[in-house]
Amino acid sequence: MSQPEMSRMHEDRLVIHNLVKRDPLADFAEDVRRGLAANPKYLFPKYLYDELGSQLFEAICLLPEYYLTRAENEILSRYAGEIVGAIAMPNTLIEMGSGSASKTRLIIETLLRDQSELLFVPVDISASALERSSRILLQSYPRLWIEAFAAEYFDGLAELAKKQRGRTLALFLGSNISNFEPEEARAFLRAMRSVLRAGDALLLGADLKKDKHILEAAYNDTLGVTAAFSRNLLVRINRALDADFDLPAFRHRAVFNETASRIEICVESLQPQKVAIRKLDMEVELGEGELIHTENSYKYDLAGIAALASQTGFVCGRTWLDSQNRFSSNLLLAEG
Ligand code: AVI
Repeated sequence: MSQPEMSRMHEDRLVIHNLVKRDPLADFAEDVRRGLAANPKYLFPKYLYDELGSQLFEAICLLPEYYLTRAENEILSRYAGEIVGAIAMPNTLIEMGSGSASKTRLIIETLLRDQSELLFVPVDISASALERSSRILLQSYPRLWIEAFAAEYFDGLAELAKKQRGRTLALFLGSNISNFEPEEARAFLRAMRSVLRAGDALLLGADLKKDKHILEAAYNDTLGVTAAFSRNLLVRINRALDADFDLPAFRHRAVFNETASRIEICVESLQPQKVAIRKLDMEVELGEGELIHTENSYKYDLAGIAALASQTGFVCGRTWLDSQNRFSSNLLLAEG
């Protein structure tokens, strides 16, 4: 069957709502202007995920040092039955930041084993990733229906909160919670909670605090893929805002801050330099060793996850770990 025929076949089981802002370049420009005028300088991590950045992140997930994806896959492959069995027959599955939805298949298959139909509600900033992954899922699962939202997390959650659904299991996988500051993480979980009703649950994937060397290796891989992922943000600014960041004059840095329990990721200027950003009519001056902060990745312990749950209207139910206790999958139950 040709590709267009295949697409038509699934149209009645797929709805995609696009809530992405009309002029994303204006927001990007304003955020870059603010971040590079600040002291210390910063750029928001959400901007790491342009077309190339998203592909580089997929490659990071395959790196030998980046254990997170494999550890979470191990948990979901081994315990999907227990996870799904811990709440009463969900007929709706929400996933925040679904991306390629590859891990989600393990949960979808388990749910479809016990029920005739399932509504999958993925929320992702990338409309093209949603469309691609939705069509692949619909091809694999004839009893699956998809209502997708192309949106930023908080906009997506505000939209989801408007409509009541059946018994729901929500997923926030991949330790995406790690890239939120603590207050943002609580705001996210509160917004998630307002979408759910008593008896629903959220499966939260969270990377665990561990030996500094293992953590730093995961963010400083020997192939240099993570370095390319970070520095691609400068490439994106060059392209979108007509800037002249000279890539060899910057290096990627990822260091574990024990006190704050987070990996701090920056690009470091290797020399004194001036960078023109023509579309912003701006010149940025950087000293040797000066950092532009791009990302934090918080590492949790189980007590921290339970605290996060209780502060946001959830109760931490069961937690599953991989065989090396590196990663946790936590079922947070929506309280009545
Ligand atoms: C998406 N997020 C959970 C990744 C992390 O581990 O914090 C992003 C990442 N940045 C560099 N490597 C991976």
